[in-house]
Amino acid sequence: MNYQWYPGHMTKAKRMMQEDIKLIDLLIELVDARIPLSSRNPDIDQLGQGKGRMVLLNKSDLADPKANKKWMDYFKQQGITAVEVNSKNRTGMKAIQGAVEEACKEKRERDRKRGILNRPVRAMVVGIPNVGKSTFINAYAGKACTKTGNKPGVTKGKQWIRLGKGLELLDTPGILWPKFEDQKVGMRLAFIGSINDEILIEEELAMDLLKFLRESYPDAIEKRYGFVQKEDNLVCLEEIARIRGCYKKGQELDLGKAASILMDDFRDGRLGRMTLEEPPMQEEGQS
Ligand code: G4P
Repeated sequence: MNYQWYPGHMTKAKRMMQEDIKLIDLLIELVDARIPLSSRNPDIDQLGQGKGRMVLLNKSDLADPKANKKWMDYFKQQGITAVEVNSKNRTGMKAIQGAVEEACKEKRERDRKRGILNRPVRAMVVGIPNVGKSTFINAYAGKACTKTGNKPGVTKGKQWIRLGKGLELLDTPGILWPKFEDQKVGMRLAFIGSINDEILIEEELAMDLLKFLRESYPDAIEKRYGFVQKEDNLVCLEEIARIRGCYKKGQELDLGKAASILMDDFRDGRLGRMTLEEPPMQEEGQS
């Protein structure tokens, strides 16, 4: 299948991001732990130049724990502070504070040298749609936060959430847009539901997922649906339809319904914790 993305309103999103970025010291970038690279927008490196940076591997509860570890190492090697989080049940929130300090060390030092003391770090959450930005802001800021309201010198309408004495978070996240020239990246984004399903043919998407499962998690189908995964993806999808009672009028199998069951099972973690991509050039023995 040909995976596509229509940027449309994303030009506006980019302009807004560029404005907001001027106000902040630290970019908290959320990625989906199942596809930590494919769910990043590479433009962020340019947009975030001169800012403190950290990456949160969100939805780490859905990703393969071994792979999470590898990705943490990968980002560390890139000099980016990373933290594994699950915003849905608020796991990993405590570790963020230390990581924020780490990511802002240089800025605090610069401030200190210029005689600026106790100026809070201003941060903003960014990420492509559906990585969990709003869920994270709610989980992290929680109820304990106080909104600082508009302040002189701050663009009107911006709301900052004060988190402790040293950190203020912009209450609306910056939306990045998925970017891919590589079809594999598009396919992974579609698997996790980040590309609108309406422009995709769900049966084909499901068959691409079955191919991935056979290669990477060969027991997953058997564990979930009780049959050994077949070589042929179509035969496999038909088997899922039969097992789950997906029929159109008469006895015709409803493959669209079977595909949507499979995709939902995958996206909600019912096929097990899975990661769809490996860190690039992760060599044995590297730490
Ligand atoms: P966004 O602002 O980046 O667009 O994402 P949002 O917070 O709306 O989250 C998108 C979906 O991801 C939501 O599910 C949310 O619950 C889920 N989510 C966010 N963080 C995590 C996480 O760490 N782990 C898991 N498992 N899920 C997470 P939804 O289906 O849209 O809504 P609902 O299931 O919460 O009702």
